[in-house]
Amino acid sequence: MLGDEFILAPAQATMTAPAFLLFGAHGDLALRMLWPSLFRLHCDGSLPEEMALYGVSRSGATAELHAHLHKALADELNEGNRHRLDAFLAKTEFVNLDAGHAADYVGLADILQRADRHVAISYLSMPPDLFTPIVANLQSAGLIDPRTRVILEKPIGKNLASSRAISDGVAGALAESQTYRIDHYLGKEAVQNLLALRFGNAIFEPLWNSHHIESVHITIAESLGIGGRWSYYDKSGALRDMVQNHMLQLISLIAMEPPVNGSSEAIRNEKIKVLQALHPITEANFADRVIFGQYSASADSRLPGYNEEADAAEVSDTETFVAIKAYVDNWRWKGVPFYLKTGKRLASKHTEVIITFKEVPQFLFGQKPDADLCNRLVIQMQPDESITLEIFNKTPDVHEFVLKPVALNLEINEAGNGKVRHIAYERLIRDAIKGDRTLFVRRDELEQAWAWIDRIHAARKAAQAPLLHYPAGCHGPDFE
Ligand code: BG6
Repeated sequence: MLGDEFILAPAQATMTAPAFLLFGAHGDLALRMLWPSLFRLHCDGSLPEEMALYGVSRSGATAELHAHLHKALADELNEGNRHRLDAFLAKTEFVNLDAGHAADYVGLADILQRADRHVAISYLSMPPDLFTPIVANLQSAGLIDPRTRVILEKPIGKNLASSRAISDGVAGALAESQTYRIDHYLGKEAVQNLLALRFGNAIFEPLWNSHHIESVHITIAESLGIGGRWSYYDKSGALRDMVQNHMLQLISLIAMEPPVNGSSEAIRNEKIKVLQALHPITEANFADRVIFGQYSASADSRLPGYNEEADAAEVSDTETFVAIKAYVDNWRWKGVPFYLKTGKRLASKHTEVIITFKEVPQFLFGQKPDADLCNRLVIQMQPDESITLEIFNKTPDVHEFVLKPVALNLEINEAGNGKVRHIAYERLIRDAIKGDRTLFVRRDELEQAWAWIDRIHAARKAAQAPLLHYPAGCHGPDFE
């Protein structure tokens, strides 16, 4: 994070210029997030001047891609950057390629050779079963060399075995140091701020353990349903779609030990230890520790149920909500419950972490205003970012000594001195260009996460756990 190697600069073997390949160039993610991120990087000078962008997809043409980009970038344009759009389009070209056809890569190699370019970055915004063939085809066409980095979009597999198979396949052509596995949560400012909060301040760390912390709640709530993603989502469910990646990244950052330094390896070495310490969920403890839910139509029928959103008439038992009481079995956290909760079609969209501290050993001021009230650190990550420390304060009163909870509040947007907030992908693509892997997921982390998730799926089956139905638009099934 603090200065890993930069390798895009002077080309090593030859003096070819860099190319950025975006596979899945017309896809939803590309149009909503990736092209806007690339445009922002272009505007702030983070894309190397000489880098060309190639949108890769099965059918299309450069004029058509440019027309898509005009629409996709409309919201990005302002007085300050409008004049940069033409230059951005000028460096952007379309390449027709069927990802599974080796022959098409010969054509791609030809295009790059004529332009005197090497592949610096390939961003695979594609289904994971295409990762291995794409990388193998790039290699056969001579398009991978030590300068090449490949960014893999999630999900990487659907369980440990398939994830390993993909990683083995990709490793046939790329070193781990060339492999950049995306978890876009790691690109969010508020998520990175967890590191800053914990390790940039002396005040929290002495309290950050089971002696002082009662519980940790991590919630990622979404108000939208599945929409057009049913065929993907139904094979995935909330556990694979949100917990395996984003949620476990959050718990890793919250629970990790201080790294020996700020380097990507030091940080990731500590994160994986948290995953290794996660207490297994088994058939025996499943009922106490896990809830699976699925949304049904809202009471007023305005919001459809999950099965009604299916492409065809289906009755699925895929979970759209999961809540887990997790434990991190190590000296720091033994006995502290981490409540992980995520779901679709809930009352609002928000991501937050609440650290609840233990009560004072003895309360000196008569009746506590509320028996459950304790100091809490509330880290709101989206839609707005804020950090609030809830403390007890004496209310002005000459007769009684009464305490009331008050909030010490830090609005992060204000604290950012008006700086533009970045799209998570913008930060991650920039890091990949720089060669900084801190905010990318290492293979061992990914596999450790899958191993924990696989056990939960197995335990669910063995325990024949019920699927709880909750009306769309509510807060989800009750959980501690
Ligand atoms: C994606 C999931 O990884 O994250 C989606 O596949 C989910 O289902 C999305 O909606 C949530 O991301 P964010 O940034 O909106 O919280």
